[in-house]
Amino acid sequence: MTSAFQFPDNFLWGCATSAYQIEGSPLADGAGPNIWHRFSHTPGMTHNGDTGDVACDHYRLMEEDVRMMSGLGLNAYRFSISWGRVLPEGVGKINEKGLDFYDRLVDRLLEHRITPMATLFHWDLPEALDNRGGWLNPGIAGWFAEYARVCFARLDDRVELWATLNEPWVVTDGGYLHGALAPGHRNLFETPVAGHNLLRAHGRAVEVYREQGKHRVGIVVNIEPKVPASGSPEDRAAAERAHVYMNRQYLDPIFHGRYPEGLRTIFGEAWPEWPAGDFELIRRPIDFVGFNYYTRSVVRHDANQYPLKASPVHMPHSTYTETGWEVCPQALTDALIWLKDEYGNPTVYITENGSAFYDPPVAEGNRLDDPLRQGYLRKHLRAAYAALKAGVDLRGYFAWSLLDNLEWSHGFSKRFGLIHVDFATQERTLKGSAELYRRIIASNGSVLNET
Ligand code: BGC
Repeated sequence: MTSAFQFPDNFLWGCATSAYQIEGSPLADGAGPNIWHRFSHTPGMTHNGDTGDVACDHYRLMEEDVRMMSGLGLNAYRFSISWGRVLPEGVGKINEKGLDFYDRLVDRLLEHRITPMATLFHWDLPEALDNRGGWLNPGIAGWFAEYARVCFARLDDRVELWATLNEPWVVTDGGYLHGALAPGHRNLFETPVAGHNLLRAHGRAVEVYREQGKHRVGIVVNIEPKVPASGSPEDRAAAERAHVYMNRQYLDPIFHGRYPEGLRTIFGEAWPEWPAGDFELIRRPIDFVGFNYYTRSVVRHDANQYPLKASPVHMPHSTYTETGWEVCPQALTDALIWLKDEYGNPTVYITENGSAFYDPPVAEGNRLDDPLRQGYLRKHLRAAYAALKAGVDLRGYFAWSLLDNLEWSHGFSKRFGLIHVDFATQERTLKGSAELYRRIIASNGSVLNET
């Protein structure tokens, strides 16, 4: 049989994680506390009061986890570096022991021929910097550049792919507008300021990378296609607002050197004038876009919804995951093609894609079958392949996530892992989806031809 699904030979097959969600030991070896440590230790902020104090204990079980990655056949792994482990105060004194951890991780990955992709910032801002205003302080672009320089100096000889930020939109929407994520603010006026400083920090890190970096640097954004619930002009305008706010707010400045006009309407009097010079910094050329995709959103006009005046609509015939996200693989293809057409066909990696579903208990013989997650994986890889065939410069796919982990304010209640973690014993068990992923990787995708 001729194979319909066959990914390019050098395609990266990875899994993704982030520091605070898996590492545990947040204060070990001289690390400074971060805002997620503070947030999760604040009563009422996370489901069940769950914290990252232990999480997957990856800080101590790293070698075992890398062996599991190797067992799956991964040739790439995306992790994040915890800023406060490296610079406990966010700037200034370097904590060598913290840096050593990532140094060892990178070495272990390379020993197993796994390409490291390091994200500099996946939400765990050092508390010391938050106390100085965090993302609201324009000085943070310089602080981030200092931190980036330390990481590049130590690891760029071996790390081939660098992402500056993970999902700046989530940082601002969850952390500064709706308060569900650290630092837990609810302030319309702060939101665009935090977003702009994230972009400036990204630009500064890219600038630093260009001085000596030998490999590739990019940014990770989350993209969620917005579909109007009806053909009415109100619903179409609502979907367009949601699209501008979530999908264009960060990519337009990077690729076009300006914000989309619609943001001014959305933020109203909270939208400031920005110094024109900032965009020269923000639009420094990047080598790739990291593309996180989980779902689409069908949107209707809703005057009561702040500040977008738009609400999501439940689709009665669709499947939804445990996080309430519609399963819609076609929207992944569409979104990747939109990225290609809108921003000049950048190189792209799917840096996250995955699903939280209810998992049954681990059964006899260490088996855990997760058919819904397997279906999600299979369908989204097919959708990614369709985008590749449509000319998208897609170079890799990172499943979210390697391990069940701390799903931020949902605590441990939502499991995204290909590998099940028993949080009481730290025992790891491969789920059916991990076995499937291993077969897909081993066949470079052709297993996807099976129904
Ligand atoms: C984040 C991850 C998170 C995942 C699932 C992404 O927004 O980068 O940290 O666990 O989605 O919610």
